[in-house]
Amino acid sequence: MITLALSKGRIFDETLPLLKAAGIEVLDDPDKTRKLILATNQPDVRVVLVRATDVPTYVQYGGADLGITGLDTLLEHGMEWGGAASNAGLYQPLDLQIAKCRISVAVREGFDYAAAVRQGARLTVATKYVAIAREFFAAKGVHVDLIKLYGSMELAPLTGLADAIVDLVSTGNTLKANHLVEVEHIMDISSRLVVNQAALKLKQEPIRRIIDAFASVVESK
Ligand code: PRP
Repeated sequence: MITLALSKGRIFDETLPLLKAAGIEVLDDPDKTRKLILATNQPDVRVVLVRATDVPTYVQYGGADLGITGLDTLLEHGMEWGGAASNAGLYQPLDLQIAKCRISVAVREGFDYAAAVRQGARLTVATKYVAIAREFFAAKGVHVDLIKLYGSMELAPLTGLADAIVDLVSTGNTLKANHLVEVEHIMDISSRLVVNQAALKLKQEPIRRIIDAFASVVESK
């Protein structure tokens, strides 16, 4: 049995064409079922639905053989657990070029971010990406107080909870709707395929088949 860990939403939707190229069709719609294990048209392939931030954990510890997750989640997972080496056991063979976006710093319209940074003020930054934000501001030599949030980051500068946020930006519509502006581009993000290294050795043939099918879709884009 091959187990693929996916999270609901954009990554799930954008993974369906990749699975199709590998001859795999998911038999249930995750938005219409409460099931967490979804069968596919291939009796030896199943999909498990997990929280996006749990995908690296499932794959690293063998709860799933493969997973698809954003680079943001992967970096945050590795850094939280103590550096790149802590992604040990996770093989990253492919940038799937899906769910593309960026991680940026944003502030309220009218907030003079450049001056705050120049003056060496201590910025309060709210984010779900504490490790990425810590590393980014440390490299710039900017002192920050980080506040961990789990969602709706945009509210933080509007309510006075923080001066800035570090969050994913795709179209920019969410920032605009909340009168926030992007002031720094930290990095580009896309989804990555991750594979459990032990599973790759034990189930090499079926896993390689999936990796190769995904790779050919990515290359043909
Ligand atoms: C992300 C991010 C922003 C939004 C940006 O949230 O946190 O809120 O998308 O997209 P936009 O630039 O196209 O407006 P997501 O919908 O992934 O949900 P989340 O709040 O659970 O992270």
